[in-house]
Amino acid sequence: MALPSLYVHVPFCVVKCGYCDFNSYVVDDAAVMDRFVRALDLELAAVAPPSVPPTVFVGGGTPTYLDAARFESFLAVLRTHVELDRVAEVTIEANPESLDRTKAQLAFDAGFRRASVGAQSFDAARLRFLDRAHDAAAVGRAVADLRAAGFENISLDLMFGLPGQTVAEWERDLETALALEPDHLSCYHLTFEPGTRLTRDHRQGRVAANDEDEDKRMFLRTRELLHARGFEAYEVSNFAGPGGPCRHNDHYWLQGDYIGVGPGASSHAGGWRGTNLKAVEAWAQAVERGLPPTGEAETLTRRQRAAEAVWLGVRRTAGVDLVAVARRLGVDPRAAFEGALRRVTAAGLALCTGDSLVLTEEGLPFGDAVGTAFLEDV
Ligand SMILES: C[S@@+](CC[C@H](N)C(=O)[O-])C[C@H]1O[C@@H](n2cnc3c(N)ncnc32)[C@H](O)[C@@H]1O
Ligand code: SF4
Repeated sequence: MALPSLYVHVPFCVVKCGYCDFNSYVVDDAAVMDRFVRALDLELAAVAPPSVPPTVFVGGGTPTYLDAARFESFLAVLRTHVELDRVAEVTIEANPESLDRTKAQLAFDAGFRRASVGAQSFDAARLRFLDRAHDAAAVGRAVADLRAAGFENISLDLMFGLPGQTVAEWERDLETALALEPDHLSCYHLTFEPGTRLTRDHRQGRVAANDEDEDKRMFLRTRELLHARGFEAYEVSNFAGPGGPCRHNDHYWLQGDYIGVGPGASSHAGGWRGTNLKAVEAWAQAVERGLPPTGEAETLTRRQRAAEAVWLGVRRTAGVDLVAVARRLGVDPRAAFEGALRRVTAAGLALCTGDSLVLTEEGLPFGDAVGTAFLEDV
């Protein structure tokens, strides 16, 4: 059995961005952060991840929001439980407003070799619209700090499809990002997530969604432009440059097992899926009492797992190996989801090539809809 990967969730942010529905809180209380670091130590001791998991990913929220002293304690806790120096890929998410040279060095010295910087946009008005706590120049400074510390694998997160955005404007963002010589790029289409400020503004008519055709042109232009610059689209939103694909995400998309620690983090083990309590207080209290901090859990049937395998995997450029799914789970998606398969192929959104289901050029922007067709047939 392959070992589980490790995900560590740091749930603090300096602001809550209007589009974001991740489990994050604006907290300015040192006692809460100290408690978080202590409870994380307890949770790691209780779940006992492999000392050398295939990958480690520290995300959020904003891991770099912790001040230098607490950031150092946090890294020391991780190193108590995991031999970071021996892990094949160790990633940390870094936000431009809170990363500095000291924290970049602390992370590198602790064993982090890959950093994912949330740039989102390089346009001042767009950054304000997104509630970002940094300006465009801070993204360049963050990349420079990481490089100076020794990081050779830096990814940038960008968003497109912002209200009123055109292909020309998006190309300028892509060019600015490329000028920073990233090793990997994630380009996400802005989605209106339930419960966010952005979705409320949209419903109340204050923010209009962008033109769908322009969004589709931006999506296709992204692939074309990045391909020409040596970045391979290995997933609908992810582009591998010199740093190669993100192994942690690939592990997740291939339905690997993972242990998630921290408030709201999810874990997966052979069809069992649990999600930790989301609130920092509730999560910490459970951990301190020696209880599992699980908020919700479910055990998926083999049929559900096969549908999820297609849903997770079809966004990868290589597609989903349906034969491998059948062998692994004992449910052949070609027989179990014949109807969904027929619908997505008849609509021209996906193609069965040999053993695999692959999105067509037409289907690429609709990867989620293709995957959802299988979930609906469970
Ligand atoms: C949850 S964030 C964590 C990273 C970090 N805190 C940051 O803000 O950069 C991970 C990435 O998801 C993307 N993201 C979050 N919400 C999104 C949304 N509603 N639509 C599109 N992309 C989104 C952003 O690009 C963001 O960098
Ligand atoms: S996008 Fe990042 S910084 Fe903004 S609220 Fe979400 S996790 Fe925090």
